[in-house]
Amino acid sequence: MAEQDKVVLITGGGSGMGREAARRFAAEGAQVVLFDVNVDGMQETAAGFDNVHPHTVDVTDFDAVTAAVRQVEDQIGPVERLYNCAAIMPFGILVEQDNAIIHKQMAINYGGLVNITQAVLPGMLQRGRGDFVSFASMAGWIPMLKTGAYTATKFAVRAFTETLYHENMKSGVRFACVCPPAVATPLLKQGQDSDWPKMLDDQGPPIEPKTVIDAIEECLDKGKFFVLPTREARIGVIMRRLFPGLIWKQVHQVEGF
Ligand SMILES: NC(=O)c1ccc[n+]([C@@H]2O[C@H](COP(=O)([O-])OP(=O)(O)OC[C@H]3O[C@@H](n4cnc5c(N)ncnc54)[C@H](O)[C@@H]3O)[C@@H](O)[C@H]2O)c1
Repeated sequence: MAEQDKVVLITGGGSGMGREAARRFAAEGAQVVLFDVNVDGMQETAAGFDNVHPHTVDVTDFDAVTAAVRQVEDQIGPVERLYNCAAIMPFGILVEQDNAIIHKQMAINYGGLVNITQAVLPGMLQRGRGDFVSFASMAGWIPMLKTGAYTATKFAVRAFTETLYHENMKSGVRFACVCPPAVATPLLKQGQDSDWPKMLDDQGPPIEPKTVIDAIEECLDKGKFFVLPTREARIGVIMRRLFPGLIWKQVHQVEGF
């Protein structure tokens, strides 16, 4: 739980799960700082709260991220909790997908995590406390046809966060790597507007953002690193580990190539 006046920093806080977390922590009395490029979205997140502080920051710009974190820590206080949510998700067949879009996904989804980590984590380590929450995905475990570029970013996020956790296990900082299946947020539209794989329609309806935030809080409290918010997600990870060929067979059957 976020405590009164503790500082929570949320990248991608102008939409989706970042917004859900921001409004929840703000209602609990935390000082919530948003870093996003979606100015209108951040205003909507902050509506009705005077303890939500929007900052227009592109997470791919390390100097801007570092300067904004320094400003927040000087003016509001040390960041006690980080939610790294910023991401994009355009899909496509790898050989056809726009080269710049593939690189942009890695720069935001993975590069943004690298930048915010190096700006925020040293302070947490120095203080010997804090919550570090990184958003990977089920896509960080299971590759599919047409999702390759996004999936690559989420494999990178998972590897980076897992290593970070093990490098700092005894620091007092709590780490969580969040791996949800499809969640009902505006991100899904980016996939639907590009080249949506039929396989994703076979997974049932998307879960609600609230379910994911609840699962994160529970895992942090129980000291569980990977947040797999549904039974299906947990089974999916086991299936990928034990039977990767079986999953690929099903994917090819469903997509028809
Ligand atoms: N929605 C899903 O189905 C789903 C499933 C698994 C994992 N995830 C992951 O969860 C996290 C949150 O996703 P969401 O569904 O809430 O997405 P969302 O699209 O609702 O919100 C993402 C936010 O990131 C911001 N953003 C994009 N580029 C940025 C940049 N360069 N700098 C700063 N901000 C930037 C966007 O403006 C947006 O406000 C993401 O990391 C996503 O990959 C989402």
